[in-house]
Amino acid sequence: MTGRPVFLFNSTAERAAVFGPAFAADLPDIAFETDAAAVAPDEVRYLITWTLPPDLSRYRNLEVVFSIGAGVDQFDAAGLPPHVALVRMVEDGIIRMMQEYVALAVLTLHRDLPAYLGQQAAEVWRALPPRQAGERRVGFLGQGMLAQAAMERLRPFGFPLAGWSRSARAIDGVESFHGEAGLGEFLARTDILVCLLPLTDETRGFLNAELFARLPQGAALVHTGRGPQLDAAALLAALDAGHLSGAVLDVTDPEPLPAGDPLWRHPKIMITPHVASVTQAGTAARTVIDNVRRHRAGRPMVGLVDRARGY
Ligand code: GLV
Repeated sequence: MTGRPVFLFNSTAERAAVFGPAFAADLPDIAFETDAAAVAPDEVRYLITWTLPPDLSRYRNLEVVFSIGAGVDQFDAAGLPPHVALVRMVEDGIIRMMQEYVALAVLTLHRDLPAYLGQQAAEVWRALPPRQAGERRVGFLGQGMLAQAAMERLRPFGFPLAGWSRSARAIDGVESFHGEAGLGEFLARTDILVCLLPLTDETRGFLNAELFARLPQGAALVHTGRGPQLDAAALLAALDAGHLSGAVLDVTDPEPLPAGDPLWRHPKIMITPHVASVTQAGTAARTVIDNVRRHRAGRPMVGLVDRARGY
């Protein structure tokens, strides 16, 4: 028994080696533990993990579960008692990586890189007609923290920016749409669609044939949300019909994408293996320590999930 509230850490040893010393220095009244077998279950107040352990109910005094990643869709919400707070990872490392990836993907599509890679493979030296950034309208599905950070990175290039989310948002320099009523107008003005939606029952299968049909001819997709949001057959059909011009996918369903899947070799698709953005231990430890302090002081935690909404 430590006598101190326990923060139970369930992630990699590499991350623990960063979190442990930071906790010891900044939260000495909390016991940072990595070995679940070595702690008294009643003393566990905080748990950080990617998925819920099957024996979660033994932690009767658990107050907060932190996701080690940005998403919380991997948690079985039914397995988490309603009084336990659930917190997404909102940290500078994840935000910066997502800014890089979205900028990379949007520029890749804007500057016709998939087509040039195809030409290179065929040893073809041919310029494609360029388009100015000011004429390439980028639209974000999702207007949360990550989307707003990515918009901020893209802004200096001069792309006209828009965003869509379930409820209204006001973001400087971004044309904002919301709800079912705003979706059609948002899609009709979007040449590069970036999906950064959380995975919920409402967003499963959201990127489907009907949605693609509402995008202008020649539009392209950047998918950095979650695999199950995309109807892959509909994407392939829209690309093959020439309605969509390209896609950059960081997430698939399932993951890893099985060998032989038609997405792999499609000439208009570029795939990365769910690496767009990954929790960085140094910055994440700072965020979690700040959130534990907030929790202990009764202040709102950053990234607190609305359990009813699911994100
Ligand atoms: C990655 O997708 C994460 O949720 O951090």
